[in-house]
Amino acid sequence: MSKKISRRRFLQAGATAAVGLTVVPSSVLGSSLGHVAPSDKLNIAGIGVGGRGFGVLKGMESQNIIGLADVDWKYSKPVFDHYPNAKKYYDYRKMYDELGKSIDAVMVATSDHTHALVTADAITMGKHVYVEKPLTHTVYESRLLTKLADKYDIATQMGNQGSSGEGVRQVCDWIWNGEIGEVTKVETFTDRPIWPQGLPRPSTVDKVPSTLDWDLFVGPAPKRPFNHIYTPWNWRGWWDFGTGALGDMACHILHPVFKGLNLGYPSKIQASSTMLLTDCAPNAEFVTYTFPARDNMKKVAMPEVEVLWYDGGLQPPRPAGVPNGKNLNDQGGGVIFHGTKDTLICGCYGVNPWLVSGRKPNSPKTQREVTLSHQMDWVRACKETPANRIETASPFSEAGPFNEIVVLGVLGVRLQNLNQVLEWDGPNMKFTNIPEDAKIQAIIEDGFKIVDGHPSFNKKMSDPVNAREMAQEMIKHTYQNGWNLPSMP
Ligand SMILES: NC(=O)c1ccc[n+]([C@@H]2O[C@H](COP(=O)([O-])OP(=O)(O)OC[C@H]3O[C@@H](n4cnc5c(N)ncnc54)[C@H](O)[C@@H]3O)[C@@H](O)[C@H]2O)c1
Repeated sequence: MSKKISRRRFLQAGATAAVGLTVVPSSVLGSSLGHVAPSDKLNIAGIGVGGRGFGVLKGMESQNIIGLADVDWKYSKPVFDHYPNAKKYYDYRKMYDELGKSIDAVMVATSDHTHALVTADAITMGKHVYVEKPLTHTVYESRLLTKLADKYDIATQMGNQGSSGEGVRQVCDWIWNGEIGEVTKVETFTDRPIWPQGLPRPSTVDKVPSTLDWDLFVGPAPKRPFNHIYTPWNWRGWWDFGTGALGDMACHILHPVFKGLNLGYPSKIQASSTMLLTDCAPNAEFVTYTFPARDNMKKVAMPEVEVLWYDGGLQPPRPAGVPNGKNLNDQGGGVIFHGTKDTLICGCYGVNPWLVSGRKPNSPKTQREVTLSHQMDWVRACKETPANRIETASPFSEAGPFNEIVVLGVLGVRLQNLNQVLEWDGPNMKFTNIPEDAKIQAIIEDGFKIVDGHPSFNKKMSDPVNAREMAQEMIKHTYQNGWNLPSMP
């Protein structure tokens, strides 16, 4: 079945189910282009709406918000109250079953570990998808969503809103115009985590509130007893659900680096951190990625580049020429591009780029200016046909490969006890130099105590496991509890 036929069938099916709703598919309106007129409204469903999802939905509430699914009905009550006409669900699968034919597009803002499931199910139903960052929890899931989005020709956007902003465009224009010369080193940092990290797994079990479906929250991760420490919000610091400070912020902070330097797969990665525990991300991380040379551009070469990431409040050394007193942390982090001609600095989301020399380049503008919000630009793309669609600023064709880099950083941190530079085969999604018999452990509990005035160390370690197998499991999770992803196209 061709992509266009399947899209038309979907629209026709939607027409029957959407009686009484505002969306009238273009096939009914008799449009020769087959697109949805901009004035027609999309039917949007939101999954994971209690936190960031509420803000994202507000950014698209000029459309019809017809369904909301959230595992925590107490946390989500303000959202449910705000959209009284939307049908409410705990389980997104039930919502897809019941409202599937009426839904045009889906907004996903659950915890990181369920983005791929919720999104893959939507895409295979032919729905457009807006997915919060990080796109997925693993490299494999990113690859899968990238390929599914391509196969189903739907409109996609990752929620790294800086990609629609002026800062990222300016960083790219300056680099591509040769304003800072060749870049062989970039340093990046964030002040996160601002949530609890570096903790052992809780030893106490809390009563699950009647308003929370804990099993649905855990989803494809290994089952664990409930504790209030995990959700809402603080799941970020727990490896099974989140990706620590790097996964949380790198989709914002590394985006101008990825785009401005045309990065592809890294060839090497190494990392270190404060105490590495089994379950919870460390308080501070330092990761070094090496990217091989890319094709030179007209005005600038793209040689091998090292990209350094610091989090937990650590920052790279201040480059020469940066004025004393100037805080390089702009909106949660910063980026320093070391070029052969100049040093370019910007904040998180690519905001406020400036050159240490003080020059203000007047480079030609090379990219589409996004005049709508990040959310509404996606709504626009949803209404265009695949053949005529102008891509959003962060479509999965770009966000998928980019997110692979982000979550690879987490692997570097979790494999740091191998004490080696890890070599990465991007196309095949595997490390190539982990010895076959290498074993790896992490700390379950620190056990540090002062005994008779002396420090006493009593680290409880996890059992050693085969490092290759552990790496593989982190690259592609074995889903638990009966959950499955569609197969890779
Ligand atoms: N772009 C940004 O600036 C930005 C800002 C904050 C958060 N985020 C991203 O948004 C996502 C959500 O983060 P948050 O801060 O809102 O977290 P949160 O815990 O505050 O909200 C997540 C919501 O999803 C619900 N949920 C979790 N699993 C679910 C499931 N399987 N099905 C349905 N609902 C589920 C939770 O109950 C909660 O209401 C994360 O991926 C995060 O990285 C992006």
